[in-house]
Amino acid sequence: MDELQRFLKFLEFIGYDEVKVDRGVTMVKNRKESNPIEELEKLKEEVLKCCKCRLCKTRTNVVFGEGDLTTNLMFVGEAPGEQEDLQGRPFVGRAGQLLTRFLNLYGVSRDKVYITNIVKCRPPNNRNPAPDEIQACYPYLEKQIEFIKPKVILCLGAFAARTILNLPEKTSISKIRGKEQKLGNVIVIPTFHPAYLLRNRKGEPEFQKDLELALRLAGFIK
Ligand code: URA
Repeated sequence: MDELQRFLKFLEFIGYDEVKVDRGVTMVKNRKESNPIEELEKLKEEVLKCCKCRLCKTRTNVVFGEGDLTTNLMFVGEAPGEQEDLQGRPFVGRAGQLLTRFLNLYGVSRDKVYITNIVKCRPPNNRNPAPDEIQACYPYLEKQIEFIKPKVILCLGAFAARTILNLPEKTSISKIRGKEQKLGNVIVIPTFHPAYLLRNRKGEPEFQKDLELALRLAGFIK
């Protein structure tokens, strides 16, 4: 069923909006004018030029996000760090390598999910993103979610969880991690940020539990 759903989502992505199955033959009708891949590409072009907040003055590259556009699972982190800023790709530094290793433990390669951040440009010296920077950038994430339509979003860290779930600033990630929430039709699961795990290895079993839940709900594992 998951494979069928992914196939239907793929057809929608490449521009078809109606699929009929008739005596075993799949018929596709009504090619759309635009499709989510094109919309996402247009959005990316816009974001790469963005200067809606002060971070555009200090960034090397915008880190838009990357991965499978038809995936059921999206990861959302906080903001690019040094390596991400240099390479223009999300989660490629030490925290990202840890995330990739955890995914690989379950036989999932990172190009099968979509990875992005709340804020698309690196805050200087990796400081926390400021509220006005989050406010300026968040509409881009909303559009990414709208175009990709993941079943599940795994929020990496308190910033992502608080922003996506609109929770108070003081909400502790330890209190909300692993608990399924809803954002429209999307299941949202908060968990620890991999950078936290680099400093606190004892958080790994809980992170793994949350990742497993997300992978299961997204249909990657049984
Ligand atoms: N930390 C984040 O939150 N995002 C990245 O892309 C890298 C590190």
